[in-house]
Amino acid sequence: MTTDAEIQSALPALGSGNVAVITGGASGIGLAAARRLAAVGLKIVLADIGGARLDEAAGAVATIAGDSGVLAVATDVSKADEVDRLAEKAFDAFGGVSLLMNNAGVGNNPGKPWENRDAWKRLLDINFWGVVHGVEAFVPRMLAAGKPGLIVNTGSKQGITTPPGNLAYNVSKSGVKSFTEGLAHALRNEPGANIAAHLLIPGFTFTGLTEGATEKPAGAWTGEQVIDFMLAALVRGDFYILCPDNEATRTMDEKRMAWAIGDIIENRPALSRWHPDHKEAFAAFMES
Ligand SMILES: NC(=O)c1ccc[n+]([C@@H]2O[C@H](COP(=O)([O-])OP(=O)(O)OC[C@H]3O[C@@H](n4cnc5c(N)ncnc54)[C@H](O)[C@@H]3O)[C@@H](O)[C@H]2O)c1
Repeated sequence: MTTDAEIQSALPALGSGNVAVITGGASGIGLAAARRLAAVGLKIVLADIGGARLDEAAGAVATIAGDSGVLAVATDVSKADEVDRLAEKAFDAFGGVSLLMNNAGVGNNPGKPWENRDAWKRLLDINFWGVVHGVEAFVPRMLAAGKPGLIVNTGSKQGITTPPGNLAYNVSKSGVKSFTEGLAHALRNEPGANIAAHLLIPGFTFTGLTEGATEKPAGAWTGEQVIDFMLAALVRGDFYILCPDNEATRTMDEKRMAWAIGDIIENRPALSRWHPDHKEAFAAFMES
């Protein structure tokens, strides 16, 4: 595990007393981040849809950060005005924000490309627009503060290899990937800015999102493992924080991604990995 001292010497944004805002902070990966960062010495702003779960999460983080070190703000990230209000509250309460983790997400499947437009829009409003709203609300304030900062947006392998199953989710996470790459480039070229953007790409993680299981499946990581991996990657300065899990190794992920981009280069059909004519070739490629 990366030590607090290693984190703080490599990342001035995560200095003791600094402030982290985490959307989707009441559960799973977001809550694991909140607890770990509180232990590193940061003050935590937890943003999630309101209710008992958010209050409980804030209580749990307060046992680490103290009551004055946590602020819970009921926020629907799909609504730009609510995210703007979140930024206002965070800056009013703590005078600054040095880490923004745009992490809130949902996975309910709206179905086929030609069905359920409202459910498609709702998913994109949360998973994609929620990230954009966070960047719009916080980055100008963070730039004006002139201090070191980090933005971590939570994407997914499903936004890179786009497997069949939940197309709207894949679309939302492909959007988060492109948006975060462009954000990193824009921040790198912003005169005087000292803010870096990163794309967190969790593997299979046992959280509220991977519903169905009451016990952690053997193949899944915990939220805490994802956050340990994320912090080590941030210390290294990695933009792409590509997490393995207990089933998918980095080598497997690299091959799957190479095969996906190979569809264009080799002029194969879309999603050839799941196409009967290419199934064997894909299997052989994975074995090679
Ligand atoms: N769990 C996995 O295997 C996995 C894999 C890849 C990526 N992810 C991504 O990780 C992120 C965190 O998910 P998780 O796995 O911890 O799931 P989770 O369900 O435990 O946490 C997601 C949180 O987001 C909150 N949320 C949902 N809609 C919201 C809204 N409109 N406004 C504010 N908050 C909202 C939920 O209430 C919940 O607390 C998501 O972006 C998810 O897509 C998860």
